[in-house]
This record gives sequence, structure tokens and C-alpha cells, in this order.
Amino acid sequence: MKKLVIIIVAAGRGSRAGEGLPKQYRMIAGKPLLRQTVTALQKIAPEAHIQVVIHENDRALYSRSVEGLALMEPVFGGDTRQQSVLNGLSGIEHLTADYVLIHDAARPFVSSEVVGAVLQTLENGASAVVPGVPIVDTIKRTNPEGELHTVDRDGLFAIQTPQGFSYRELRLAHEANIGEAYTDDGAVMEAAGHNVEICLGSEGNFKVTTAADFDRAETQMMLRTADIRVGSGYDVHRFEAGDSVWLCGVNIPHSQSLKGHSDADVALHAITDAVLAAIAEGDIGTHFPPSDEQWRGVESHIFLSHAAKLVRARSGILAHVSVIIICERPKIGPHMDAMRARIADILALDISRVSVQATTTEKLGFTGRGEGIAAQATATVRLPFDV
Ligand code: CTP
Ligand code: MG
Repeated sequence: MKKLVIIIVAAGRGSRAGEGLPKQYRMIAGKPLLRQTVTALQKIAPEAHIQVVIHENDRALYSRSVEGLALMEPVFGGDTRQQSVLNGLSGIEHLTADYVLIHDAARPFVSSEVVGAVLQTLENGASAVVPGVPIVDTIKRTNPEGELHTVDRDGLFAIQTPQGFSYRELRLAHEANIGEAYTDDGAVMEAAGHNVEICLGSEGNFKVTTAADFDRAETQMMLRTADIRVGSGYDVHRFEAGDSVWLCGVNIPHSQSLKGHSDADVALHAITDAVLAAIAEGDIGTHFPPSDEQWRGVESHIFLSHAAKLVRARSGILAHVSVIIICERPKIGPHMDAMRARIADILALDISRVSVQATTTEKLGFTGRGEGIAAQATATVRLPFDV
């Protein structure tokens, strides 16, 4: 069995993608682009080690994007893609790989067909293989005078990644070409005198390069996660003596506190149950039994983060959460913005996807009598159809 390592190069600055974060950390349908690329490859080649190459300024962005995924420590890239690949190759030396696949972080829609074709070509004895799709458009080149010349497109291919190599040969080729600026590793192998083979790529495996590509990627992701689930959650805690309550992760001074095993954040508990309901994975008590002493007094954001992690483990996307807090007092209005911000932070969601509301019950029932606080929540999750 040949040993396979995948290097994902993610150290670029994304200058052609316009303003904002480097493109690999921007969201596509609520999920960082890099995370989508990593999880796609983990699913396609579960036996492979994955080495991500990042820019040294992006450490925090990187950790947040791949949180919870089983990955090796990242290595830092260089000024050119070629240098970044070489750093990745040096970083995996200890793994003594037979084959290495080099993949652009910016291609989140890598498919098992393309990876399969690349690996098969290596198995057949190639030391270098690149996936390509035949060019269908008419190709023209302008000269410095602005004159157009038609290029014969016969035999022309648009080249993609992952590209596959013998680890040893690729490393030697890179070391012999330090300081050049080839835009792919096939070219580095060519320069070192190797025969580079081609296999079939796929139209869907495009590289997110320009701002317009984000729209295309968003549409593609939406189609892949169109199994929409809505979950609801409900919780009640009674008042006891005290001086503040926790609601949506925000501490609010009050003449009483809420009684509970944890911090009694009734609103976060309702949202946690809603998220768990959306993926049909039990309820908060299933995951954090009140009988278990380790959950005594804990902050409830831990429960909610855990539910969000389960969504991500299913390759799902949390699209929206809403909660309504039901009580006469304390007044919720002044704290709503802070509550939304806190929930958005816990879930790594844009604040526009978080709603907090409040209502009284016109002095009726237990909430009306001020005996406790109730909260009711919904969560909307998008899951892939194939899970
Ligand atoms: N890359 C890298 N190190 C570099 C340059 C590029 O690791 N010094 C990576 C990018 O992060 C990307 C892949 O190589 O995943 C393909 O490069 P490209 O699409 O050109 O990305 P950027 O260089 O980031 O974008 P731009 O050229 O528009 O600045
Ligand atoms: Mg570039």
C-alpha cells in the first residue's frame, strides 16, 4: 500500500478576489472556503495525511477555519506558490510519502473522480500527473500593440489541481528550481525534465479566483447542502435568590437568579436543543446529563458550541437561529444587541443570521407571575443530501 500525503497550499493573498479577508478564509454558504476544501479531501481520501500551508499572518484565521478537524500543524508558505509548495514538501519529509498530491485551497469542489484519476495514473507508473479539461472557448492572444491573434485551441487544456507526483521526484524538481515562479507543479517537473501526464479534470473543480467566482461557489455549495432541516427547542428555569441572570451568554443584573445545574442560561439551552433537533441528535440532556457532576455550574456556551460542532461533523451549515425569551422581568430590550453578538460569536455565524426576541405573557401563567423564565428557539440547518 503506497503512502499518500496531500499538501493544500493556502498561503496566497487572493489579490484578484477583491477586498476583504484572503479568499481561502472567506465564507461560502456559511463555511470557510478552506474548511470546505479540507473536508472534501478528508472524505475522498480518509487514509491520507493532510498538510496545509498557510501565510504566517493567518494563524488565527486558520485555527478558526479548521477548528475540530484532524490536521497536522500547518507550515508557513512563501512569496510565491512554488515556494509555498516547497515549504510544504519539506514539512512532510518525516512522513516518507510515496505519493504526494498538491492541491489549491481555492478549489473547494475537488471530486473523488478527479482524485481517483490522478491516483490511478500514478499507480500506472507516472511520476507526474495533472488533471485538465479541454478548452472549449476560442482562445486569442493580444500583442503589446493590442492586436489580436487567434490561437489554435486544438490540444489545449485548462489545468487544475490536485496534481499527483512521486514525492521524491517532486521534491528534487523543486529544489532544482528554487527562485523560479512556476504557477503549477507540473511546470516544475517539466523544467526538471520529467514527462508530465494528463488525466481528466472536471468543470466543477474550478478555482475561486475573482469576486464573481464566489457567487458561483455559493450556488454550487447551496445545491450541495439543500437538505434543509428546522429544529425547535424549549426550556424553563425557575427563579431563586440571587443578583443576576445569564441569558444568551450575557450576564444581566436582576433582583433574582435562575436556578439550574449549569449557569441556567435558559435561552442558550433552548437554542442548543433547537440545533440538536435540526440534526435529530437527541437533546441537551443526552449530551450533557444533569446527573454528571462535570457539568455543574458550567457556562452554557459550551453546550451550544458542542451542538454546532455536531452540525459541522455532518458537513452541515447552520443557516439561522432564533430565540424568544418569555418573562416579565428583567427587561430584555436593552441587552438584545449584546445577546445577538454573543450568540453569533459562539456559533461563528454572521449576526444577520441570529435573532433574539422577547415577550411577556401579560402577567398570565408562571412567567406572568414572575416564577421563572421560559425560552423557545428554532434553528435552521442545511445538510448535504448524501449524508
Ligand atoms: N498560494 C500559496 N502561496 C503563495 C501564492 C499562492 O500557497 N505565495 C496558494 C493560494 O493560497 C491558492 C493557490 O496557491 O490556494 C493558487 O493560487 P491563486 O489562485 O493564485 O491564489 P492567490 O495567489 O491567493 O490569489 P491571487 O493570485 O489573486 O493573489
Ligand atoms: Mg496567485
